[in-house]
Amino acid sequence: MSDERPIGVFDSGVGGLTVLREIHDRLPNESTIYLGDLKHFPYGPRYQEEVKGFAFDIIEYLQRRDVKLVVIACNTATAAALNQAREKFDIPIIGVIGPGAQAAVEATRKNLVGVISTEGTRLSQEYLHAIKDADPMVGVYQKASPELVEIVEAGDADTARAEAALRRDLAEIAQLGADVLVLGCTHYPLLRAAIQRVYPDTFTLVDSAETTAAKVSRQLKHAGMEAPEGTSPHHELIVTAVPRRFNEVAAILFGREVPEVTEVDLWPGR
Ligand code: DGL
Repeated sequence: MSDERPIGVFDSGVGGLTVLREIHDRLPNESTIYLGDLKHFPYGPRYQEEVKGFAFDIIEYLQRRDVKLVVIACNTATAAALNQAREKFDIPIIGVIGPGAQAAVEATRKNLVGVISTEGTRLSQEYLHAIKDADPMVGVYQKASPELVEIVEAGDADTARAEAALRRDLAEIAQLGADVLVLGCTHYPLLRAAIQRVYPDTFTLVDSAETTAAKVSRQLKHAGMEAPEGTSPHHELIVTAVPRRFNEVAAILFGREVPEVTEVDLWPGR
């Protein structure tokens, strides 16, 4: 059994390209449609209800485009919408929080996990619940680190500016003795090197982009829904607005040449 239909992937902007890149690397036969809701970026400081509304509209769009699976490649949108989206839509939906939480529980030796994320993700407590669900003995310390999103988008992930922000934002997590740090935001995988410099050999880093792509792969295999071997995949990149510096920022997050972009208006007149 196989299924040639594309995988739908969405995020508040270009951050989810870190997840898309991992999906492309792990599943080279799969076609993808990526939607970045740059009209409403950033999701991090918004109310959960509002983010959920955007997410539902995007899932409806992806469903109309006949995707076989939706990946919510955004921690904030996963926190705000995943559970209710699963009640509302028949299509299979995977978020980025569960896979990272599971990997964190497997990696900790001290039973203490730190999570950095946007404010919206922290307030939702979804990482805490997902980690406790996987192992209730594991302690969780969460910290919102919204400045790191700006730092990465500015192309400063490897600079003294990033190191200063990380020194400040990870201090309590390091002091408490967490040995695992979940990078609970799409942009943070680009900060790996800077984290290692500021807190050498302190944390095992859990990257939700990697763990989510691995879950997508497992689920497609399990359901017999992989694209057939030797298919030429087709990749679409769609955005709801094209801000200044779009190409530059998208290339930073994707880490490779960005496919041609199409703009769609999912909310005409709004
Ligand atoms: N993509 C978001 C996340 O992973 C970060 C950017 C935003 O605030 O929209 O939480």
